[in-house]
Formats: sequence, C-alpha cells, structure tokens
Amino acid sequence: MASATSADTFPNMSSLGEAHVDNERRLPAKPVNPVMETRDLNVFYGDFHAVHDVNLSYGRHEITAMIGPSGCGKSTVLRCLNRMNDLVPGARVDGEVLYHGQDIYEKRVDPIAVRTQIGMVFQKPNPFPKSIYDNIAYGPRVTGMKVDNMDDLVEEALNGAALWDEVKDKLKQSAYGLSGGQQQRLCIARTIATKPDVILMDEPCSALDPIATARVEDLMLTLRNEYTIIVVTHNMQQAARVSDRTAFFTARPDETTGNRTGLLVEYDLTSTIFSAPGDKRTEDYISGRFG
Ligand SMILES: Nc1ncnc2c1ncn2[C@@H]1O[C@H](COP(=O)(O)OP(=O)(O)OP(=O)(O)O)[C@@H](O)[C@H]1O
Ligand SMILES: [Mg+2]
Repeated sequence: MASATSADTFPNMSSLGEAHVDNERRLPAKPVNPVMETRDLNVFYGDFHAVHDVNLSYGRHEITAMIGPSGCGKSTVLRCLNRMNDLVPGARVDGEVLYHGQDIYEKRVDPIAVRTQIGMVFQKPNPFPKSIYDNIAYGPRVTGMKVDNMDDLVEEALNGAALWDEVKDKLKQSAYGLSGGQQQRLCIARTIATKPDVILMDEPCSALDPIATARVEDLMLTLRNEYTIIVVTHNMQQAARVSDRTAFFTARPDETTGNRTGLLVEYDLTSTIFSAPGDKRTEDYISGRFG
C-alpha cells in the first residue's frame, strides 16, 4: 500500500487552490441551520486536558474537514460527535454537542440511538468476519430497522458506496476477500445501510493507495448530496479536493506541565483556508513550515 509522501502532505498553497474543484457551491460564510455544533467542548483523559474550548458548526450536505498536526485532538473531537468517547476509559467530555439543536450528552439521550443517526467510518477498514451481504445486513438487523426487502437494501447500500458492480456476484463470500479499498467502501456501505444523517470519517483513506483514495473521495462528493460528512484527514490535498469547510487545529503546551492541549485555530470555507488563511499558524501548517 502506498503511503502519503511529504509532497502529498505538504503541497504548495497555489496548487491546493487549483485542486479545490468545488468553488461553484457558493456557500454562505457560516453554515446556516447547522446539523451539528460543538459549544465550549473540552475533553479530558483522566487529568490530561486533551481538547480546549472547541466551538464549531457543521453544515447540512456539506463536507467539513478537520486537519492539524498529530495529537491536536482531531479524532478526540470527532469521537465526541457520536459519543464514541463514552467507550474510552477515563474520557470525560464537558460542554455541549448539539445535533439538530439537541445536546447528545444529555442524560436521557441513548448513545446507541445517537450512533445510528451519526455513523462512523474508521481509518483502517474493519469489516466484520462475515459475508459481504451480512456485513451490510448486520446493522439494520441489530437496530431492528423495519426492512421490506433486505436484498434491495443491501443492493442500495452497495450501490450508494459505488461497490455493487464489483461484488454483486459474490455477496455470500467473506468480506476479508476484498481489497483494502473495496473493504473501506464496504464499511461505508455498512454505515449508510442504517440510513444515518451524518457520517464521521477518521482518516478514511490513510490505508489506501492513490486509486482507491480517489474512488473514496469521489464517493464522498456523491454522498454529500444525501448526508452530512465530517472527515479527519492528514492529507491536505484531500481536504482541499473534497471539503467545503476546513477546521484547523493545533496543540499548545501548558506552561507548567508541558502537556499539549488541542485547540481550534481557524475555521472557514476550504477555499479561504487554503488560499488566504487568517492565522499564521494555519498558513505555516498548510505551507509545510510546521507539522
Ligand atoms: N484513550 C486515550 N487515553 C489517553 N490519552 C489519549 C487517548 N486518546 C487520545 N489521547 C491523547 O489526546 C490527545 C489527542 O489525541 P487524538 O488522537 O485526538 O489526536 P489526533 O489529532 O487525532 O492525532 P493523529 O493525527 O495522530 O491521529 C493526544 O495527546 C493523545 O495522546
Ligand atoms: Mg487521529
């Protein structure tokens, strides 16, 4: 598998400006009626303050990219958006995470229901040790979704993830027989099978070669018509190519302890972040002077 070269990770800014293909969208400067919002989000792992005061909003049918150096809290913030941090021992979340205006951390909210609406695709493709068909059917079955015809639902999800043509003749075969890129599209199909509203993706292409990456990126642009996508990526060309808005995070060492706490530096339309960032730290990062 190919890994990103430093040129992939730190292309120059002018080429990033050209790479951003979707300036035609003419989005408002800030998301109107955002699907999700974080308000004064702080996350702790035990005594360690991992993320400080993140205020971000995520627009409907938009792709929002979260970028920044390793350890700045991108995955931590992403995991807060569907309460995956509940599963991390010692993790504590302060502040609010609003989904259609409702705080998903309120006591009466069921985290399983949250994760049905807000699905997640992980860095490493993680199909279940089951057939291709059963990977897709699993979510609808365990969540008790009302399904008229499971075969149709499986086909629809695989079509939605641009995988149907490649697997339609081997649905009963193990998902482990698929290539890495196919497995990742299978995981996307599995996520959309339960008809979520939002899809979270944590570096979904980092284990894929450039061709498989391009297919997943094309897929993300198609899925944007139906879903709201929030993606963490280390690949800045990817952020520039697919996202509508970009949030840049960094980590600041505490003066006494030296512990590095993540914070949001800048959030704007992707075209602005990559062509005219407002903060020097963003500019240094995207131009490769800091990483
Ligand atoms: N389960 C955990 N227990 C303790 N500390 C954690 C845990 N998960 C993350 N951290 C710490 O929280 C900080 C933020 O980590 P996080 O994984 O969110 O960063 P990231 O921006 O996603 O990094 P990367 O780009 O390397 O994936 C780091 O200092 C990390 O060591
Ligand atoms: Mg991460």
